[in-house]
Formats: sequence, structure tokens, C-alpha cells
Amino acid sequence: MKIVVSGTGYVGLVTAVCLAEKGNEVVCYDVVKEKIDMLNSGKSPIYEEHLEELMHKNKERITYTDDKVIAYKDADVIFIGVGTPEKKDGSANLEYIYKVADDIAENITKDCLVVIKSTVPIGTNYKVEKYITNKLDGKHKIEIASNPEFLAQGTAVRDTLEAQRIVIGTHSKWAEDTLKSIYSKFDKSVLVSTDINSAEMIKYASNDFLALKISYINEIANLCELVGANIEDVSKGMGLDSRIGNKFLNAGIGYGGSCFPKDTKALHTLANNLYDYELKTVKAAIEVNANQKLKLIRKARKYYETFNGLNVAVLGLAFKPNTDDLREAPSLVNIPIILEDGAHIKAYDPIGEKNYKKIYPTEIEYCNSVEETLKDTDICFIFTEWDFVKNMDINLYSKLMKKPIIIDGRNCYKLEDVKNKNILYESIGRDTINNL
Ligand code: UDX
Repeated sequence: MKIVVSGTGYVGLVTAVCLAEKGNEVVCYDVVKEKIDMLNSGKSPIYEEHLEELMHKNKERITYTDDKVIAYKDADVIFIGVGTPEKKDGSANLEYIYKVADDIAENITKDCLVVIKSTVPIGTNYKVEKYITNKLDGKHKIEIASNPEFLAQGTAVRDTLEAQRIVIGTHSKWAEDTLKSIYSKFDKSVLVSTDINSAEMIKYASNDFLALKISYINEIANLCELVGANIEDVSKGMGLDSRIGNKFLNAGIGYGGSCFPKDTKALHTLANNLYDYELKTVKAAIEVNANQKLKLIRKARKYYETFNGLNVAVLGLAFKPNTDDLREAPSLVNIPIILEDGAHIKAYDPIGEKNYKKIYPTEIEYCNSVEETLKDTDICFIFTEWDFVKNMDINLYSKLMKKPIIIDGRNCYKLEDVKNKNILYESIGRDTINNL
């Protein structure tokens, strides 16, 4: 069976490599030649743990090409794993999906199954099937199937190889059996087989629920600060109830990344625009998150009305640890405000730095260690809970900073561990420690 994966981003490349790891022969196709060249030289264009290792291990089973004729020739199954970014009105931009649909219609040489892995608004799979079928004009037959991706960045390979669920949405036994055979070496007990619209909905409903869970705990954290309660104890107490569960109850400066922000907006927009139905809970999650991202600045303003002329330390730039992805990272909302005030920013994020430099090549001083970052600074913002932040010696703040004011957006330290330090420590949903 010739499997083609179109798109070599997080979804496409991880899918391809993991399918190869389970014994399938896979062809990866991407329009970006530089990415294909990189992949052919054994390097991954994205930073993801174990990915390069598995690329190397399975190199006999994976080929990479930017030639669509070669890619789609004799394809039996084509997975679409291209981006569906957010449009200005909040809806999903499907231009890349339709570009692949065009290529499929123009280049396949036999009947095949087209599987959409990208997150697409409910109803899109059927539209794409109709679109390709019309373009093929009877030359070949294609059938569509939905197989949404649930991987999280930083743990993408594990999330795929040891998937907690595999959702397939099909409208024929043939499509269902084909996908089942591709996933035959994965844990069968987690496979959910359903219709296409339900599969598409499972993806949005899951991501929006998790976003809602985060916004909910963030609101409770904000209230904890006002009433004098501790969000960590509250989360722990809530999480012990198995109906609630203890995951995604970490309060912070809001969710970022390539999925939650765009998928909440896309579902909300779809419901509103197409069905005149307001998803009130999802709307609230979006609003709370936008507000939460500004929380650190508001806290810092208590100590400095303006950051003008200050040396500001920033620990962590990425939207979460173990990724170089900056999409919707809270740092991107805060850093422009600090810069606009006229501060000098010293930042440290060994993995996120490379991409940050594309946005702020000269405006920020990129440092090579925590020590270098903190030296002579007036305030420190923590935007990402990297291990290097959580595991560092907390005494470094008072030793190196001019004024050790730490505004932690990710609750990196236990209050127990900072309460006797000579610092001012603000976090989310917990008491302020002020020993200055
Ligand atoms: C998410 C989903 O987890 C994944 O299933 C889906 O396929 C894509 O979107 P990802 O965006 O990679 O994955 O990261 P995730 O670990 O879910 O975190 C998303 C954001 O939520 C991050 O900014 C993170 O910091 C934040 N978050 C997460 C919290 O603020 N609190 C939490 O308790 C958990």
C-alpha cells in the first residue's frame, strides 16, 4: 500500500514517521523545497523529541519529495496534514487544504482514499470529497475519511505511537477497513470509528473543552488571589475527583500554541456564522484567555508604572516547554508592551530563541544562561515553565538582579521554597511573597 502524507509540519511529519515506525512505507510530500532538502539530509524542520531519531531509524521506509507527480503516482492512501490557520474573522483558513485537493485531483493515477488529518471545520471533509470528485470528472474515484490528530507539541511522537485514542470517520466499510489496517499495529482498544461529521466534531470538542478547562482554572486562580486562597491546593483538591481529573488544571498566563486559540475561535465562528448559534462557553474561554495573557504586565505595573529605562529579564519565550513554537505564545503579547515602554529586554530560551530572532532580530538581547539574563535587571518575567527555570537555584535572583522582582506566569516554584528568599515573588492564584 502506498501511503502519501502531504505536509511536513507537526501533524504531517510526525504522522509519517510514526506510520513508518509501525512498518508502513510512507512518502512525505511538501511544497517547500527547503524543508524537503532538510528532511533528505536527515534533519527535522521542527524541534520535536525523538523525531530525528525515528526518521533515521526508519529511513528505508520514508521518502521525502517536493515533486507532486512522483508523490501522488500510484498512491493508495493520502493523508492531508497541512495547516488550517486562523483567518482575521476567526474562521479556519482552508486554502492549503484545497491546494492539496487540487494537486490530488491533478496527479493521482488510480482510485484512492484521502484522509484529512488537519483540523477542519465540521462539514469540510464532505466538501473536499465533492471538490476533488468534480475535478477528477470520472477519471478516478476518491473517497474521503476524517482522522483527526490529537498530538501535543513536545510529546508528539509519544502521543502518536501510544495514542490515547485514534478517531476515524468514514462513510464506507472499505474506507473504515483501510484505515483500520493502517492502524493495525496501534492499540486497537482506543480506536473510535464513527461518521465523518462526528470525527471532525470530536477534534474541536476536545480542544475547546481543554481550552475551557484552562480558562476556568485561570478564572478561579484570579479569584483565589482576591479571596486569599491557593490555586495549587484548589486544583489538587478538585483534581482528585475522577470526574474532573487532575490534568489541565494548571493556572497560568493562558493557553497558546497552534491549536487551542485557533480551534476555539473556529468553532465559535462556525456556530455563529453558519447556524446562528452562540457557543457561550467557548466564547467565555476565548475572552478569559485574552485577558489572562496580560496578567503579568498588570501585576508588574504595581511596582513600575512604566518599564522605561529598566533592564527586564525574560525567562522562556515559547508557548510551552520543550518546543520552539511561538504561535500565540503569551510572551508575544507581553514583549511588545515592555519594549514600547522603552525597556531593555534580556531574554533566555535556548530552543525558542531562534524563531524569536526572526521576529525581534535586534530589539532583544538574547542571553546564553540564566545568570547572564538576570544580571543587573530590575524585574524578571517568567513566561514558560522550562525545566531550566524550575530547577535553577532560586538564590540567583537575589544574587544577580538589581531589584529581584519576579513575576511568574507559570507558578514554577512552590511558595514554600521562595518564602524565605530575599525576593518579591508574584505568581498566579497564590499569595505574593514580598521580602524586599
Ligand atoms: C494541544 C492539545 O493538547 C492537543 O491534543 C491538540 O492536538 C493540539 O493542541 P499543544 O497546543 O501542543 O496541544 O499543547 P498543550 O500541552 O495542550 O498546551 C496548550 C497550551 O495550554 C499551552 O500554552 C500550555 O501552557 C497551556 N496549558 C496547558 C495551561 O495553561 N494549563 C494547563 O493546565 C495545561
